[in-house]
Amino acid sequence: MDRRSFVKSSALLGAASLAGIIKPSDAFASVKGPRKTGTAKPSGKPVLRFKDGEFRILQLTDTHLIYDRPEEYAKTFARIENVVAEEKPSFLALTGDNVTGEGPTRKAMWNKYLGFLDGFGVPYCVVYGNHDAEAGMSRPEMSSWVVSGRNCVNTLDPVSGELADVRLPVYGADGSVKLELYFLDSHDYSSSNGFGGRVPGYAWFKPEQVAWLKRECESSVAENGGVHIPSMAFFHIPLVEYDTAWNKSKFRCGVMGESVCSGEINSGMFLAMLEGGNIMGVFSGHDHNNNYITDHYGIALAYGGFSGDNTTYTDLKHSLRVIIAKEGRREFDTWLHDEYGNRICKVAYSNGEFKNY
Ligand SMILES: [Fe+2]
Repeated sequence: MDRRSFVKSSALLGAASLAGIIKPSDAFASVKGPRKTGTAKPSGKPVLRFKDGEFRILQLTDTHLIYDRPEEYAKTFARIENVVAEEKPSFLALTGDNVTGEGPTRKAMWNKYLGFLDGFGVPYCVVYGNHDAEAGMSRPEMSSWVVSGRNCVNTLDPVSGELADVRLPVYGADGSVKLELYFLDSHDYSSSNGFGGRVPGYAWFKPEQVAWLKRECESSVAENGGVHIPSMAFFHIPLVEYDTAWNKSKFRCGVMGESVCSGEINSGMFLAMLEGGNIMGVFSGHDHNNNYITDHYGIALAYGGFSGDNTTYTDLKHSLRVIIAKEGRREFDTWLHDEYGNRICKVAYSNGEFKNY
C-alpha cells in the first residue's frame, strides 16, 4: 500500500482508529539509551572523519526499491551512481522507505542494495520508513540483513534486535569529535488509542526516545568539555513542526507539493533538540512531493530529495540532497542534486542563520 493509499484508507478506517579507517571499539560507545541500546560494532567497520575540512553527506530517501521491478531500481542505482561520482560523499544517509515490494523478495532486494552501497566504499547508516516494515517484514530479521553491510555503521539493539537509535561521532583532523549524527527510528503507524478510538495516521517519537536524545545531548556536552558539538538528525517521518515552520518562517527554499504527513501527536522531539543546543539540522523523507528546507528557531528542517523511481508516487523531479558540514564550525551548505546534474536550492546555514547562494 503506498502512502497516498494509506492516507486514504486511514481516513476511512482510521476515523475510528572517511572513511575506511579501522575504527576503535569505542567509536560507537554513545549509542546507549533506555529504549534501544546499540551494541558495540564489530571491528573492521569504518569511523567517520572530516576530509579537508568537510564532511560530505548524501541523503538517499524513499527509494522504494522493488526486486520485481529491475528496470526501476536500475534507474535509481544509475542516478545514485552519477551523484556519488559528482558529489564525492564521505557518508550516505538512508532515511527510510528503502525497500518495498512483496515480503519474500525483500531480502534479495536488500542484498542487492547493500552490495551496491558497499561498492562506493563509504560508510552509510540506515533508518526505516513506514513502508520498510510492511508486507509481513520482521524488523529484527530485516535489521540483521542491514547490519551485515560491510560499510554499514548501524548497530543492533540487543533486546529488540532492531536498529538502535544512534549518535555517531565524526572526527576532525585533530582526532576530536567535530560533528555528531543522530539516526532515529520514527516508526510507522500510530498504535495509540484516544477516547474516540484509535488515533489515526503515522507514528511519533516515543517519550523514551525524546528522553534519550536529551540525555545524549547532555552527555555530548560533558564529553566535549562543555562544548555543544554541531549535530544533525536523520529520520523518516517529518516532525509536526515542519508544517509550522514552512508557514511561519522568513526563510524557506524548495517545494511544498503536499501536506506535511507527520504523526498526529507532537511528542516533544523538536523541543528536546532546541533545548539540547546541539542539533543544527533535521533531515527527513516520507513526503515525496516535498523537498524544502526551512528555518525553525535556528534549526534547519529539511526534506531529502525524492530518490526513487516509478514504484511509488511523486510529482517532483528526482533529486538527492547533499549536505556539506564544515569542520569546527556550526555551519553547513546544502542543495538538491537533480537528475540533470544541477545543484538547486543552494542554502548556506551558519549559526542559525540561513541564506541562499
Ligand atoms: Fe516513501
